[in-house]
Amino acid sequence: MIGRLNHVAIAVPDLQAATAMYRDTLGASVSDEQALPEHGVTVVFVELPNTKVELLHPLGEASPIAKFLENSPAGGMHHICYEVSDIIAARDQLMESGARVLGDGEPKIGAHGNPVLFLHPKDFTGTLVELEQV
Ligand code: CO
Repeated sequence: MIGRLNHVAIAVPDLQAATAMYRDTLGASVSDEQALPEHGVTVVFVELPNTKVELLHPLGEASPIAKFLENSPAGGMHHICYEVSDIIAARDQLMESGARVLGDGEPKIGAHGNPVLFLHPKDFTGTLVELEQV
């Protein structure tokens, strides 16, 4: 069902510092900051030869990242995103197998303009999983 690793998302308390660390210490190519108010985050994309890392910082009061950073003030891995070719078929197959889909179960448009869904971390070895239709 799942295909390529699309990205790993890391929640960070200081977006400028995290961006500088990836750019200057690790020598990676990084994007400008991008505000995504509908997702409650500001994002910087770190472009790697085979995948991306997304640095997530809370935006607004109801940010889903705020609570994560309260529990992990230094930041940490927030989710991992796998590509699927048909997100509805993937969702239906997963729900049939007993996995929990977060929210109302309907795909939303993610940071890259593609439909995405999130799966409950307790069903996936403690990792929040994002599926992105590519
Ligand atoms: Co993501």
